[in-house]
Amino acid sequence: MANMGTTAGQSELSARAEELLASMTLAEKAGQLTQYFYFGMLEGVEGPVGDQPREVQAALSRGGAGSLLFVSDPAQANRLQRMTIEGNRLGIPALFGFDVVHGLRTVFPVPIAMAASWDPTMVERAQAVAAREARAVGIHWTFAPMVDIARDPRWGRIVEGAGEDPYLGAAMAAAQVRGFQGGGLGEPERVIAGPKHFAGYGAAAGGRDYDEANISTSELWNVYLPPFRAAVEAGAGNVMTAYMDLNGIPATGNAWLLGDVLRARFGFKGFLVSDANAVRSLATHGFAADLTDAAARAVNAGVDLEMAISDPAYAHLEEAVAAGAVSVEAIDACVRRALEAKLALGLFEQPYVDEERARVVLADPAHREVARVAAQRSAVLLRNEGGLLPLSTERLRSVAVIGHLAASKRDTLGPWAFDFDLEETVTVLEGVRARLGGVAEVHYAPGVRPAQRMFPSIFDMFPGNVPAVPEGFDDEAELARAVEVARSADVALVVLGEWQNLVGEQASRSSLELPGRQLELLRAVVATGAPVVLLVMSGRPVDLRWAAEHVPAILAIWYPGTQGGAAVADLVFGDVAPGGKLPFSWPRSVGQIPVTYSHTTSHDPGAQGERYWDEPSTPLYRFGTGLSYTTFSYSDLSVDRDQLPVGETLTVSVAVANTGERAGDEVAQLYVHQRYGTASRPVRELKGFRRLHLEAGERTTLRFTLGPDELSYWNAAAGDYVLDTATFDLWVGGSSGAELGTTFATTPAVAQAH
Ligand code: BGC
Repeated sequence: MANMGTTAGQSELSARAEELLASMTLAEKAGQLTQYFYFGMLEGVEGPVGDQPREVQAALSRGGAGSLLFVSDPAQANRLQRMTIEGNRLGIPALFGFDVVHGLRTVFPVPIAMAASWDPTMVERAQAVAAREARAVGIHWTFAPMVDIARDPRWGRIVEGAGEDPYLGAAMAAAQVRGFQGGGLGEPERVIAGPKHFAGYGAAAGGRDYDEANISTSELWNVYLPPFRAAVEAGAGNVMTAYMDLNGIPATGNAWLLGDVLRARFGFKGFLVSDANAVRSLATHGFAADLTDAAARAVNAGVDLEMAISDPAYAHLEEAVAAGAVSVEAIDACVRRALEAKLALGLFEQPYVDEERARVVLADPAHREVARVAAQRSAVLLRNEGGLLPLSTERLRSVAVIGHLAASKRDTLGPWAFDFDLEETVTVLEGVRARLGGVAEVHYAPGVRPAQRMFPSIFDMFPGNVPAVPEGFDDEAELARAVEVARSADVALVVLGEWQNLVGEQASRSSLELPGRQLELLRAVVATGAPVVLLVMSGRPVDLRWAAEHVPAILAIWYPGTQGGAAVADLVFGDVAPGGKLPFSWPRSVGQIPVTYSHTTSHDPGAQGERYWDEPSTPLYRFGTGLSYTTFSYSDLSVDRDQLPVGETLTVSVAVANTGERAGDEVAQLYVHQRYGTASRPVRELKGFRRLHLEAGERTTLRFTLGPDELSYWNAAAGDYVLDTATFDLWVGGSSGAELGTTFATTPAVAQAH
């Protein structure tokens, strides 16, 4: 088990696990390896879950389940824990897991937003708050961070990750693991982190959720695996397997992926859980013959826990042993890891939570402050013609706030939020009203109705997840009213994007257009002549080609969370300046997907590298882009030597100055390009970044280091990591288009004297 404390503690813990294991029957072992959904939060809600909670309780009462997910009510957790402990001969407590993806009661900006902060320290702090709230209500383990690289925004789950880049993704993965877990399993007020979905889920064909991923060896190792490796190195106690086929083999039955790569190569020592029903699905894939075969093959691949909705495949493990398909030793290895996790968390000593204390922790105002700062730091300013932002309140008489999303509490929180408090959630409209406090009038008009999905999603069963269309909503009249409201205002804040149920799991789409009649609304508002600030509420890029030419100010606010509206007001009125940067290349249109800054050059036919005849090949906004209310300049870039023996570390220095009139944040980014070698390497790769705050006129010198970790890569022909001797270009600047550059060369390693 990763980071479980001292070696002495570890051996004592292993001995206790061994003792329990020695007295367990095969059926009890299978029970320990079974994790059930428990939709207790939907008890009493008509329809969706039927008898499922009763079935699970029956399993708990006979020792048939070692773990539950989706319980977030402390009283319910205590009740179910008691049932579990009393239901098994050995009194083994249950492990409670939950998707605490971006907060529990305090909802933080969605993960793609937090990645846009380029601020691992803030992200770690936010996830520590999430862990504190989760642990207080009885959750021991979160199915997070999601560290899947996503280069196809049609895939709705791009919102849950850190975007397109393995280096930024790895930094965010490690920060989140540290936030959730602290220094190691068993720390108070922390939970086990479960990076997911191992591996390659983000490359689903066509961006269609759950479809197969076919990823080249080079991309797998250099793009999709690094964030997992970083999460494991940060001590993640758990990893979740992915649903889909990876290069023809289901990830959940892939012994090479889970064994050779994750455990042997990356040194993962924790326990593995399947994604929901993914063990059963080995049969659906046409991989396992039946559920018995599926169970055997998952255990043989190293999947310790099966996450199941009902009828788990691991209930067939006894048959699988009898058939000689799986050994008792293999099952024991899984049970050992599950028990060690429970022991490490101290669940045998303290299986229950203090319900009164949970209420206090959930209400902690300090948590809301962290959420507000997180939302401020996540926003990305994409356009600001004529310095429209920040708005000065001095001559402001009237502000129009337009768009249904401006006033929708549920949408402000984003997907993967379940335990929120809508009462305290601050919408953009509320944030603006509170900030102006009567200094200027605020008039609101939704303009358009929420766009509807063509197909329902599993999340529809949660109350309020599908936005309600106000009764009697008259589309034409509302559009006209929004235009009127804009016409009589000094400025229009237009909040457009995607309703939160249009992104996330089971929310892939085939286009990136603003859903519904939102573009029409935007055009009509701009046509009034009122200065327009477009606030984009989304978890993926949407088509902003028109806006990028006609709307003076565009700020990506993502789904900003509990304190979202307050943070947006802080930004719009200049109490803080935006400093986030895009964690993905923002495509012009869906036809460009995938578009990434980090591609190889390949054949150059001459025509400025353009590939389409009907559209530029470049994205609308490049990776790493983001403006501030001030400007920054870079100078004095230098390396401490221009010849770097392989294995040694280069120091890069650069001066950054705030050349504007206001304080602001910048994210300095370092990119490298290996000019030649034993493989072709991308035109640019991010290899360092730092978010910094500079007062007006302030200048500072930054240092970055480039060593073997940054300069080596996976070479498909060698089947290993290599570090070539070659010439490298290097740039530092405020986006992936950074122009200030220099070069250095790697040279053969210096022989060690014996
Ligand atoms: C998702 C996982 C999630 C699990 C439990 C699955 O459908 O793919 O990411 O952790 O459900 O909610």
